[in-house]
Amino acid sequence: MKDYNEVKCLEHSIIIIRREKVFTRLLSNLPFDRLLILCDINTWKYCFHEIVPALSSKSCHIHIIEAGEESKNLSTLEGIWETLSNEGFRRNDAILNLGGGVVCDIGGLAAATFQRGMQFIHVPTTLLAMVDAAIGGKNAINFEGLKNQIGVFAFPYQTFIYPKFLRTLPYRQIRSGFVEMLKHALLKGDDLWNRLSAIEPEEVMHHLLYISEAIKVKVSYVDEDPFDQGIRQALNFGHTAGHAFEEWSLLKQPQPMLHGEAIALGMLVELELSVKLTDLDDNFALLASNIFKKYIHFPIPTLQDIEQLIDLAGFDKKNKDQSIRFSLLQKTGKPVVQVAVSRETLSNVLKNIILSFS
Ligand code: GLY
Repeated sequence: MKDYNEVKCLEHSIIIIRREKVFTRLLSNLPFDRLLILCDINTWKYCFHEIVPALSSKSCHIHIIEAGEESKNLSTLEGIWETLSNEGFRRNDAILNLGGGVVCDIGGLAAATFQRGMQFIHVPTTLLAMVDAAIGGKNAINFEGLKNQIGVFAFPYQTFIYPKFLRTLPYRQIRSGFVEMLKHALLKGDDLWNRLSAIEPEEVMHHLLYISEAIKVKVSYVDEDPFDQGIRQALNFGHTAGHAFEEWSLLKQPQPMLHGEAIALGMLVELELSVKLTDLDDNFALLASNIFKKYIHFPIPTLQDIEQLIDLAGFDKKNKDQSIRFSLLQKTGKPVVQVAVSRETLSNVLKNIILSFS
């Protein structure tokens, strides 16, 4: 019997491991003699030592980047390419990404582009990365103030989910990741949603067994539509508005929102849009909004920020009649993609949400 759980995403393995010995054994069995270990400053301090025993037989070079969304940019990517180049890495070597969404996204992009593509391994260390960023082959950097503008689809050789890393995280980060698990539960259906939505934010750490279920939900969408042409876009529920909040907070706030926090706020907007445009039951939307509100404890935009938020959501400033496409929900387990939303509708909903906090 296997001493780990394996979920297949297309033909790639996501391996969920509880025991340290198993984690070390599987990492040391990776078929690469030479690895670039990509860390951020936090995973270098708090997580790197956990992988050291597995690496004794390999030649490794470590590259450390700044932590946080601000470093997911071209100059950080260039730094990784420079190291790969200066240290003589070759296409049959691999990058091991030890970190959260930023490290996995940028490390995946560096690997997929260096010498037209080398292999990479994700070892996500945040809950958000374990259930979302490290799953599904999206790799990107932010560009000109917009999230994930430059990127590629490329799938990791393997992804190792080792929940012990979560002990190194501030609780705020765990709650932020749990918002994505709640989103996956909405997309899966009543059973998972009822179980996850009953968990209070301060209890989240005791319910990590749900990680595999959340991963399986994401994988089911990726398997059906790996290159995001249709139904995979359902995973963006909460994200069109959520990314606008995240970009707004990067521009305007001394302490930017975490991704999951911005998505919680985006959920409020997109649940209300779903009531208006895809017949989501309004009692359910209210109930779900109250769950997501428990994850929002930070300054939110004001009415004066609405125009900027609309632009950040992807509307063209010059074309006032334009609509953009959202992924919404008809009911739990029944997403609807590509729903046209006008500027005016989004503006009204943003106004309602902002006023609901006053
Ligand atoms: N995070 C959305 C996706 O992977 O498609």
